[in-house]
Order: sequence, then C-alpha cells, then structure tokens
Amino acid sequence: MALPTSVSLAVLSILLTVNSAISSLNATHESFMRYFLDHTSPSNSSSQILYSPNTTAYDAVLRSSIRNLRFLYSSSTTKPVLIVSATNESHVQAAVVCSRKHGLRVRVRSGGHDYEGMSYVSEGDRFIIVDLAAFRSVTVDAEHGTAWVLAGATLGEVYYTIAQKNRTVGFSAGTCPTVGVGGHLSGGGLGTLSRKYGTAADNIVDARLVDVNGRILDRQSMGEDYFWAIRGGGAASFGIVLSYKIELNYVPPIVTAFNVIRALKQDAAKLVTKWQQIGPNLDENLYMRVITLAKDDDEAEGNRTIEAIFNSLYLGRCEELLTVMGSSFPELGFEAADCNEMSWLESVLFFNNDSGRPTEVLLDRKQEFYISFKAKSDFVREPVTEIALEEIWMFLMEAKDEPLMLFMEPFGGVLNEIPESATPFPYRKGNLYMIQYFMWWLETDMETTERHLSWMRKLYAFMTPYVSKNPRAAYLNYKDIDLGRTARVWGPKYFKNNFKRLAYVKSKVDPHNFFRNEQSIPPVKSL
Ligand SMILES: Cc1cc2nc3c(=O)[nH]c(=O)nc-3n(C[C@H](O)[C@H](O)[C@H](O)COP(=O)(O)OP(=O)(O)OC[C@H]3O[C@@H](n4cnc5c(N)ncnc54)[C@H](O)[C@@H]3O)c2cc1C
Ligand SMILES: *[C@@H]1O[C@H](CO)[C@@H](O)[C@H](O)[C@H]1NC(C)=O
Ligand SMILES: *[C@@H]1O[C@H](CO)[C@@H](O)[C@H](O)[C@H]1NC(C)=O
Ligand SMILES: *[C@@H]1O[C@H](CO)[C@@H](O)[C@H](O)[C@H]1NC(C)=O
Ligand SMILES: *[C@@H]1O[C@H](CO)[C@@H](O)[C@H](O)[C@H]1NC(C)=O
Ligand SMILES: *[C@@H]1O[C@H](CO)[C@@H](O)[C@H](O)[C@H]1NC(C)=O
Ligand SMILES: *[C@@H]1O[C@H](CO)[C@@H](O)[C@H](O)[C@H]1NC(C)=O
Ligand SMILES: *[C@@H]1O[C@H](CO)[C@@H](O)[C@H](O)[C@H]1NC(C)=O
Repeated sequence: MALPTSVSLAVLSILLTVNSAISSLNATHESFMRYFLDHTSPSNSSSQILYSPNTTAYDAVLRSSIRNLRFLYSSSTTKPVLIVSATNESHVQAAVVCSRKHGLRVRVRSGGHDYEGMSYVSEGDRFIIVDLAAFRSVTVDAEHGTAWVLAGATLGEVYYTIAQKNRTVGFSAGTCPTVGVGGHLSGGGLGTLSRKYGTAADNIVDARLVDVNGRILDRQSMGEDYFWAIRGGGAASFGIVLSYKIELNYVPPIVTAFNVIRALKQDAAKLVTKWQQIGPNLDENLYMRVITLAKDDDEAEGNRTIEAIFNSLYLGRCEELLTVMGSSFPELGFEAADCNEMSWLESVLFFNNDSGRPTEVLLDRKQEFYISFKAKSDFVREPVTEIALEEIWMFLMEAKDEPLMLFMEPFGGVLNEIPESATPFPYRKGNLYMIQYFMWWLETDMETTERHLSWMRKLYAFMTPYVSKNPRAAYLNYKDIDLGRTARVWGPKYFKNNFKRLAYVKSKVDPHNFFRNEQSIPPVKSL
C-alpha cells in the first residue's frame, strides 16, 4: 500500500539519541565485541559490522528499515545494546553464540515491517539486533523454476530479479515491495497470487538457518518438523533464517489490473454484500479485494460517505476478463475502459499505487514512509448481511478523525485445497475472506497515538458478532500485541490446532527459550 513520505527525520534523531544514551556501555558489551570479532572471519575495513550506541551510525542503522514510527518514540520499549549488520553467515552464527554467552537476547530483522516492532525493540530484554539487510541476493534456477532468496531481500527485489530472468514467472507473496523475505515467508505471506498458488510459505521447498547452538541447518539436517514450523509459525521463535528456496509461480506475459470504485450512492453496500459470495468463489485467476474507507462526501457538504475500491488482478487479458466479469459479477458494471493491461511485475507497482514508474523502483529499499500505524485482522466465515455491513460503515463514518480502513482479502481457490495442518497457517477451507483493519497517522504525540489505538480497539470489539469465533482467528503477519502475552490465548488465534505442534517443535529445538519475543512460541512445559 502506498503511503506518504513526510515526517521529518530530525525529530527522530533526537528521540533516538536520548534513548540510546541510556544503554550503558560496559564490560559485557566490550567482551561481546571482542569475542565476536575473534570468532568471525576478518572483515575488510569498508564494511562495518558492529554498531554500539556510542557510534554515530547507530541511530541511522537502527532506523534504516523501521516502518512503524510509534515504536521509536515509545517510552515503554528498549533499544538494542548492539546492532550486528551481518555480511557473512559466520556473523549470524557468532551473534547467537556470543549473545547466549553474555546473557543477551537476539532480535532478527530482515525487512523491519513487523507490526509491533518486534524485530527492533523489546519490552524488557537486553538484546542485540541481527540485521540481515545485507543478506539480499536472489539466485534463480530458471531450469527448475526455483530460486534461493536470502532472508534480507525485499519482496520487490525478489519479484524484480525473477522477472528479469523470465517474464512469465512471479511469486505468490505480499503486495508491498519493501517487506522482507525473512519475516514475511516465515509468517505466511498473502497477496494477489494466493488464490492460485497458496501462501508464500506454501511455496518454500528448502531453507537454511542458524539454530540456537549456532549451527547452520538445511531442510534435511533440521528435519521435517522444524522445517514445517518455519513456514508460517514465525521463524523468530525457532532460529535465524539465512535463506529460503522457493518454487516460482507461472504468470502469463500480460495480466490485467483494475480498480472499480463505488460510493454509497452507487450501491456500494449491495455490491460488497454480493462480493462476499462472489470474491472467494471466482475463477482462481481473478483476485478481487475490497478496500473500504469513510470520507467526506464531495457532493454533499458536511455529509460522509463510504468508498469501496474493488482492487483487482486478473491473470489474463482484458478481453477474457470482460467475459469472466460479465458472467460472475455483472452488477459491478465492469467495462473495457477499466482494464489496465501490463506485465505481472508492473502489476506489483499498480498495487502499490506506483503505476507508471519504472519497475526499478522495486529495488529501492528506501521508499520509506515515515508513519505510525496499527492494524488487526479477522477472518469471515459467514457473509455479513447488508444491514450489518451498513452498521459497520456507519461506525467508520462516525469515526470522523480516525483514519480507519478495511482491506477485505478474498480466500478460496487453492487455499481451500491445502489441509489446515500442511503449514502452521491454518486458515484454509471455510474462510471466505480475511479483513485487515488498518490505520496510519503522522502525528508523533502520545495523546493522538492513544486515541487512534483506542478507536482501533473499539472497532475490533464492534466487529465481534460478524467474524470467526472460538478462536477468533488472527493472521500472524499482522501481529497484534492486543491479543495478549499469554501464549495459551494468542496461540490458537494465530495457529488454531497447529499451535500445540509448534510448541512441541520449540521444545525440541530451543528448549530454554532463547529465541523469544513478546509473542513467540513457548516450549510445551511453559504453556
Ligand atoms: C506496509 C506493509 C505492507 C504489508 N503487506 C503485506 C501483504 O500484502 N501480505 C502479507 O501477508 N503481509 C503484509 N505485511 C505484513 C508482513 O508480511 C509482516 O510484517 C512481515 O513479518 C514482515 O517481514 P519483515 O522481514 O519485513 O519484518 P521484520 O520486522 O524484519 O520481521 C518480522 C518478524 O519476523 C522475524 N524475522 C525477520 N527475519 C527473520 C529471519 N531471517 N529469521 C527469523 N526470524 C526473522 C522478526 O524477528 C520479527 O519477529 C505488510 C506489512 C507492512 C508494514
Ligand atoms: C551493563 O549495563 C546494563 C544496562 O544496559 C546493566 O543491566 C548491567 O548490569 C551492566 N553490567 C555491568 C557488568 O555493569
Ligand atoms: C564504544 O563502546 C565500545 C564498547 O564499550 C568501545 O569498545 C568503543 O571503543 C567505543 N567507541 C567509541 C567511539 O567511543
Ligand atoms: C564468509 O566467510 C567465510 C570464512 O571466512 C568465507 O569463506 C566465505 O566466502 C564468506 N562468505 C561470504 C558470503 O562473504
Ligand atoms: C569488502 O566489503 C564490501 C562491502 O561488504 C564488499 O563489497 C567487498 O567486496 C569487500 N572486499 C573484499 C576484498 O572482501
Ligand atoms: C519461463 O517460465 C515458464 C514457466 O513460468 C517456463 O515454462 C519457461 O520454459 C521459462 N522460460 C525460460 C526461457 O526459462
Ligand atoms: C446528507 O445526509 C442527510 C442525512 O443522511 C440527508 O438527509 C441529506 O439528504 C444529505 N445531503 C445531501 C446533499 O445528500
Ligand atoms: C495514489 O497516488 C495518487 C497520486 O500519486 C494519489 O493522489 C492517491 O491519493 C494515491 N492513492 C492512495 C490510495 O494512496
């Protein structure tokens, strides 16, 4: 999703400097650095690897991939005592071994998009960051239709690199090009191709990771349980993923993207009501999600309205799409003028509201938007009635100063055919769509932040009758700390029956819970 680049970095710098001064530099710290340097291959002078808070680059390195500003100026989180900018696998291994030796924890950061900042802040642990931004190469094996992608690569780098080799390959993963492979693939990964090819995690065929003992394991040496867990269970609980081997997905040379926008007066409520039955049952080549938001009504001063954007991708040409739309959703009034034909790679720009720009922007890791945000997710199993939908929209319209948005992401297609236990991500057959509630803002004061967070919680409470129950499901990649810190409570929400198996794997591979964060899988004995 595209968001503005605006807030001044100066403010951030000040906040960061004040906070980092608190992390004292002491014996532990120096001994860590000495040990680390002794146990890694000598690095050349041009690439710095360790950043302690007393170095000028620390702030810049820390914020280099932070996507959610509210964790930068929060007083309830702590910052790393050291950042390891790994450029060699041996750095990652040493970081694990040294941290254990020195009683520090590790937070791993690939793309830095974690919704609760868990890759770069902590609520209490003393920790280091292992930053994998330099681990970013993508090596394509065109003959076998696979690629090894390093964990720090962004989705944009993956999409761009594979399309350079072959215009008819894509990869089923998220729509935001700056999201990192390390977090995204290990937490599931949903996007425009998921109805046809499943989640990103469904397309992982091998992996390399550093375990709690600092060993490098691949699929064969880690075993199938361990390999299962890091394909949707969140790798942060199990180790540090260095790379994933993925299966590439066929895409036609020309695809068609479109946005059809309907406001209340244009029967938006009827159309979205209907969409709930159609969207999840469409031809799997057609992905049609609905984004809804409230806004001032341009045609009626002082009134509010709802805009429903049917934000879509068809894996084929406009002509065929017209036939598909005519037979499955004639009410929408889709016409040839709505079609935008392009390559699949260009469609990534379309979904990021970057249409018309060169595809090289997908390689730009710095398309940073300096915003704060909060999101939550729900799964819908029974269509919401038109009356209920209107009540939900009334809630959005009344929350005048709250930038609330709903992304309704259709399921169905191949997602229905994959068993719930195939990967830790269990939301398959029986789910019509997922809702992401999303809000973002530019203000940095705590009062505004708290007000927004509280409206988000109100909306979530309001939605209770309309969404999945027992458990009320949530999507791990849309991590939500409001689900609590008690694993027995949030575990089944993210993973349903797969939660227990994740805890068993954890017991085997990291029994002392070294790899942990505020919502990580605990070993069975601490459940
Ligand atoms: C703007 C935006 C758009 C998004 N769009 C989508 C979308 O379209 N579809 C979708 O499914 N999701 C989407 N997401 C959510 C995204 O998938 C998750 O936030 C994902 O976890 C981010 O991965 P990351 O590597 O960028 O984040 P990070 O913050 O680096 O990591 C996220 C979590 O994974 C852990 N982790 C990271 N790398 C590793 C590693 N190498 N080994 C072990 N653990 C690791 C971190 O410690 C942290 O717990 C979006 C997020 C944002 C901010
Ligand atoms: C090092 O600093 C941390 C705080 O950052 C403190 O908790 C710890 O006790 C210190 N250790 C020594 C040996 O001074
Ligand atoms: C920063 O702190 C580390 C660890 O205490 C120390 O080794 C290093 O010399 C310090 N660097 C600067 C520039 O002060
Ligand atoms: C990592 O270091 C090892 C040992 O020095 C070296 O053999 C290897 O080539 C390095 N790998 C990379 C990617 O730099
Ligand atoms: C030194 O490090 C830089 C940055 O990581 C790298 O591009 C370069 O190849 C390295 N040079 C040598 C001689 O290893
Ligand atoms: C390109 O990928 C398609 C599958 O998406 C495959 O059939 C074709 O052989 C590939 N072409 C080349 C030149 O590798
Ligand atoms: C504004 O909304 C009110 C209440 O719903 C309605 O009666 C009125 O007709 C609307 N005004 C316009 C210009 O549409
Ligand atoms: C998309 O970009 C255009 C112009 O660049 C902007 O006016 C519009 O608001 C953006 N839309 C979204 C949904 O961000």
